[in-house]
Amino acid sequence: MADVEHGVAALARRIVFLGPPGAGKGTQAGRLAAVRGIVRIATGDMLRDAIAQGTALGKQAAPFIDRGGLVPDELLIGMVGERIGREDCRDGFILDGFPRTLRQAEGLEQMTGGTPSGFVVFDIEVPRDELLRRLSGRRLCPTCQATYHLQTNPPATVGVCDRDGSALVQREDDKETAVALRLSEYDARTKPLIEYFRARSRFHSIDGYRPRDVVFGELQGLLESGP
Ligand code: AP5
Repeated sequence: MADVEHGVAALARRIVFLGPPGAGKGTQAGRLAAVRGIVRIATGDMLRDAIAQGTALGKQAAPFIDRGGLVPDELLIGMVGERIGREDCRDGFILDGFPRTLRQAEGLEQMTGGTPSGFVVFDIEVPRDELLRRLSGRRLCPTCQATYHLQTNPPATVGVCDRDGSALVQREDDKETAVALRLSEYDARTKPLIEYFRARSRFHSIDGYRPRDVVFGELQGLLESGP
C-alpha cells in the first residue's frame, strides 16, 4: 500500500466527513474542497462512476449499492489507497464517505503512515426524520454529480441540472427499502467510528440540522481556529 505521509504541513488538510446518509457530507465536503482547493475523495461518487463505466470494480459494487448495503472493505481500501497515493493528494484531501467501518479506518491508518492524529474529523448529525426527508427529495445529476433537493434546493428548471443541462435522476438507493438498509448499516458499522476518531483525532460533532451556509460557516471557523 502506498505510503502517503507527506509531512506535517499536509496533516491539517486531511479532513474526514462522518455522518449518516443524507446528513450533508457531500454538500459540505464539495464546498470545502472548492473554497480551500483541497481534493475531495467521495467514495459513493467514485463507485457510481465505476458502475456507469462498467469497470470490474463497478460490476462488483453495483449489487451492494443498489440495495443499500456497504461494498466490501477490501474493495474500498484498495480504491481509496490508490486515489490518495496520487500526486494531487500530496498536500491533503477530504474524505467524504470513507472510512465507514473499523476495518476501513485501520486501512486508512496504514495508508497514511500509522496515525489519524493529524486528521480533522467532522461528524455531521441530523435527526432521523429529517434524513428521510432529505433522501426522498434528493435528485442527482448523472453527468456532474451535483445534488439538488425538490423542496430546499431545486434547480432553476424542474428536472434539469443548472450546470450542464442533464436530466436529473433519483438515486436507486434513495428509494425507501434501500434507505432503511443504509441507515441500519450506518448504525451498526459506521457509528462506532465516532468513538474511534474522537479518541484519536481532532474531532468535531456538527449540528447538521441548520441551513447549509450556517453549517459551512462553522466548519470554516473550526478549520481556521485549529493547528
Ligand atoms: P454515498 O454516496 O457516500 O452515500 P451516503 O453516505 O449514504 O451519503 P449521501 O450521499 O446519501 O448523503 P450526504 O451525507 O452526502 O448528503 P448530501 O450532501 O447529498 O454512498 C452510496 C453507497 O456507496 C453506500 O450506500 C455504499 O453502498 C457505497 N459506499 C460508499 N462509500 C463506501 C464505503 N466507504 N464503504 C462501503 N460502501 C461504500 O445531502 C442530502 C440531501 O440533503 C441533498 O438533497 C441536499 O441538497 C440536502 N441537504 C444537504 N444539506 C442540507 C441542509 N443543511 N439543509 C437542508 N437540506 C440539506
